[in-house]
Amino acid sequence: MSASKARITAIGSYVPERILTNNDLEKMVDTNDEWIVKRTGIKERRIASDKEFTSDLSYKAVLNLMERYDKTVDDVDLIIVCTMTPDYTTPSVASNLQAKLGIKNTGAIDLNAACAGFAYGLNVANGMITSGLNKKILVVGAETLSKITDFTDRTTCILFGDGAGALLVEYDENQPSFISSHIGSEGEGGQHLYCTNLATQMNNIDLLGNGCIVQNGREVYKWAIKTVTNGMKAVAEKGRINLDEIDWFVPHSANLRMLESICEKSNFPMEQTLYSLIHYGNTSAATIPLSLDIGVEEGKLKAGDYVLLYGFGGGLAHAGLLIKWTL
Ligand code: UT7
Repeated sequence: MSASKARITAIGSYVPERILTNNDLEKMVDTNDEWIVKRTGIKERRIASDKEFTSDLSYKAVLNLMERYDKTVDDVDLIIVCTMTPDYTTPSVASNLQAKLGIKNTGAIDLNAACAGFAYGLNVANGMITSGLNKKILVVGAETLSKITDFTDRTTCILFGDGAGALLVEYDENQPSFISSHIGSEGEGGQHLYCTNLATQMNNIDLLGNGCIVQNGREVYKWAIKTVTNGMKAVAEKGRINLDEIDWFVPHSANLRMLESICEKSNFPMEQTLYSLIHYGNTSAATIPLSLDIGVEEGKLKAGDYVLLYGFGGGLAHAGLLIKWTL
């Protein structure tokens, strides 16, 4: 990849107020706190109100970013919202966000790579800035998964939550953040994690067409462990760095047990992993920015740290990035 000219200059996040605990879920489906914590690590998740949608969460995450880093976004020239739960099929969440923020001269696109979305979005932002097409890009990972969750299905409703995180990426040739990346897609396995919209057949297989997320957890689990373990190696190799030189691993926060297994297989210390799943659950494209923000707020992530992000999920798509943290 050509030498990056893009630098991460600010971060912000937002989660809805309502908390749904494992005990609350016990009253809704045949499950229990012990099973959920043991199998996933999740204790609670946030749920958007009936009137709160992905663009609202995105807007509040950007306001948080502006306030904390004293940044203006009037001169942003591209907004990328990574999401699989847009408010509308059209207009995009990004266009909605542009209107809410009152930005006048910007492009706006949504990017759907499910739980790999944010890593893809950052990769695209780096490419646009490094190529000279853009100067200042907002990359938002935001989801209201509760709106497409079947709360009678115990295999999925215990997992998902709502939230948003945003990063600002700006032109800077002298202190770029981006080092290497690795992306992939295995659509042949798409039927293991889906939410129907117009079609109800995939790879010649009939799908449950109820408009809610359906997941074959065990298949996705096996695929993710293999794919992320190999992907981490590929990102590190392309970045000419050894895994033991990486300060923080920030995988998509799907399941704590799975992250432990990936770390064990990669011989990477679990203590150097950042995740957001304990209090927010699996928030798809929002998990990585939320985890980064937890790292910042807890004083773990420091300027100069090498960070390996890895997103994976519906598609089945995956994307990894090696960055130098610059905040
Ligand atoms: O974000 C996108 C990527 N997604 C992922 O990475 C998800 C990957 N998969 C997973 O995280 C895990 O597969 C799950 C957390 C979804 C499930 O954990 P598991 O250890 O793979 O459980 P399982 O599906 O193999 O089910 C084990 C048992 C089953 O009962 P039997 O057949 O053994 O009698 C399930 O019916 O647990 C049962 N079960 C539950 N029991 C209590 C499934 N869900 C629940 C539940 N409460 N909520």
